[in-house]
Amino acid sequence: MESVDQAHLARTYLDWLVELGADEAICDTPIDRYALADRPKAPAVKPPSETRTPIQAEGPADVADPVEAARMAAQGAGDLPALRAALQSYEHCELKRGARNLVFADGTPGARVMIIGEAPGRDEDREGRPFVGRAGQLLDRMLAAIDLSRGSSVYITNVLPWRPPQNRDPKPEEIAMMQPFLQRHVELAAPDLLVVMGNISCHAVLGKRGITRLRGTWAEAYGRPVMPMFHPAYLLRQPAAKRETWADLLELKARLIA
Ligand code: URA
Ligand code: URA
Repeated sequence: MESVDQAHLARTYLDWLVELGADEAICDTPIDRYALADRPKAPAVKPPSETRTPIQAEGPADVADPVEAARMAAQGAGDLPALRAALQSYEHCELKRGARNLVFADGTPGARVMIIGEAPGRDEDREGRPFVGRAGQLLDRMLAAIDLSRGSSVYITNVLPWRPPQNRDPKPEEIAMMQPFLQRHVELAAPDLLVVMGNISCHAVLGKRGITRLRGTWAEAYGRPVMPMFHPAYLLRQPAAKRETWADLLELKARLIA
């Protein structure tokens, strides 16, 4: 009996760690870190000749301002594969270093509806595709309810293409540097309508906060109509809000067939 309890406890603890964002057991065998303790340490302070001020660039082609660098890279992309490649080689966003994969987009490029979520979570980071976890499965069911699907009629991306550590909220400067890529993404995918899901996307695209107030009413961004909706992850926590989302989905459908 005791071992069953132990196993249950271990399982609960593991679930809790996963909930916090742990997604990897680092090593199969333990490392004795005390034995590693007397490795030579890197010098704490660089000699003056090596120090660089932040505004000095890495090389002649580099642009010091991350937002300007993003704007140039995004503008230089002539189609969606080029935009993906530009993101792949954009080095100014810290999130990239902690992520396993770039999460660029999913669904049908050129579809009439483009959905913009917030940022990849654990499952998306692992697969390199947006909305593949529980929230994504709910999203697919919501779309199916109005006869839409990734396979034929919807294109999906996120404000951020890399997973924030422990799924923390994106920082304003991270959103600011990804904004030019998002705008170019919308231009190149050229949808008729945009759907922004959740507060972060709503703020990133519309510059306004308060999804509870804004949802369900058409707005405009990037020269296109935008429908703000609750995020499916929010609907998983607050199922009663599905009622409003159903109304929003019907409004979206009505606009598509009008
Ligand atoms: N939540 C998002 O906003 N985007 C994803 O891709 C997955 C979950
Ligand atoms: N808060 C959010 O961040 N998103 C929602 O969809 C609802 C509340």
